[in-house]
Amino acid sequence: MQFVLLPGDGIGPEIVSQARRVLEFIGQKFGHSFQFQECLIGGIAIDQTGDPLPAETIAACRGSQAILLGAVGGPKWDDPSAKTRPEAGLLRIRKELGLFANLRPIAPFKELLDASPLRREIVEGTDILFFRELTGGIYFGPSGSEDLPDGGVRSFSTMVYETSEIERIFRLAADAARLRRKKLTMVDKANVLEASRLWRKVCAKIAQEEYSDLEYDVVLVDAMAMHLISRPATFDVVVTSNMFGDILTDEASMLPGSLGMLPSASLGADGPGLYEPIHGSAPDLAGKGVANPLATILASAMMLRHSCAMPAEADAIEAAVQAVLGAGHRTADIARQGQTAIGTSEMTDRVLEQLKA
Ligand code: NAD
Ligand code: IPM
Ligand code: MN
Repeated sequence: MQFVLLPGDGIGPEIVSQARRVLEFIGQKFGHSFQFQECLIGGIAIDQTGDPLPAETIAACRGSQAILLGAVGGPKWDDPSAKTRPEAGLLRIRKELGLFANLRPIAPFKELLDASPLRREIVEGTDILFFRELTGGIYFGPSGSEDLPDGGVRSFSTMVYETSEIERIFRLAADAARLRRKKLTMVDKANVLEASRLWRKVCAKIAQEEYSDLEYDVVLVDAMAMHLISRPATFDVVVTSNMFGDILTDEASMLPGSLGMLPSASLGADGPGLYEPIHGSAPDLAGKGVANPLATILASAMMLRHSCAMPAEADAIEAAVQAVLGAGHRTADIARQGQTAIGTSEMTDRVLEQLKA
């Protein structure tokens, strides 16, 4: 079984190498032969090849069982007038592999309830599965800039969606809701945006005609930002467009208490899936050995479950993480006052000890 590892930038290499240790151990323990190939993406790929997504990387990804990515980007490549950016590599790999569905589970471990800035009774019982549309919308619509006669500049980014793009993500989300608590929430901004009004119409039709067994509702994105921290436990599956899903899930990371806890899976109709933490390259932590590796370790569990049909192996990783948190081990991002924080590789050591136990 061949996995492509895309460490990327900032803390990316530090956390992907830790997830690799866990995967190597799982391979041994369960008798699988896991092979790993590391490829370039992001800023490091720009530095070495001039391209944030070199052709060799995409070719290796296409030939793999699944892909595990760290993060891309950082201040070094932030010049707004640069020819290309690290993030362009990530957007392109998603588009080229057709990874239109980004699954972001928000189910805080009960062992971690104290790490949230929100009160325990608000977070308790939260188990949300976000479906973020990943290859359309404002991130991929027409954009550009033009000089104006007054010396200023006009720039634009356009939100574009087609019926078929909405239908496929909505059906995936609805199928998932059917296997969970049968509640589906669609989030949009249909009071203002034409593209959101298409979402509203397309989703209502499918919900009514094909999923009448589900409890279906719609929420405007601004209100959702509030409901997410006032009554998170009332949501089950949430489906939304690319940018809204990006923003709402970073907000939702405060339910478990840190971005460093949230994994994601990006899936298409076929071909390899891409797995990554939802956080970025955390330039403020890079090179310090303090980043939380658990989001990436949990992403590798999602990889085994969704791309390798290895539910027992995925369960083992998730149970080990839960046990480590239960034993009180914390990286700095999830440590409360008075708790000693351990580093990136020490946290992985604790996870490996649990897997060995
Ligand atoms: P970020 O997610 O990198 O960091 C936000 C905050 O969360 C920081 O305080 C950071 O220290 C903390 N954090 C993130 N991951 C953590 C972890 N594993 N453990 C502990 N703390 C963690 O977001 P940003 O600072 O806005 O962006 C930095 C760069 O990352 C930008 O270039 C951005 O484009 C890029 N980015 C990449 C991805 C990706 O590759 N998927 C995602 C988001 C942002
Ligand atoms: C994420 C990131 C990316 C996104 C950026 C880096 C392109 O924020 O994976 O959530 O917006 O999708
Ligand atoms: Mn994001």
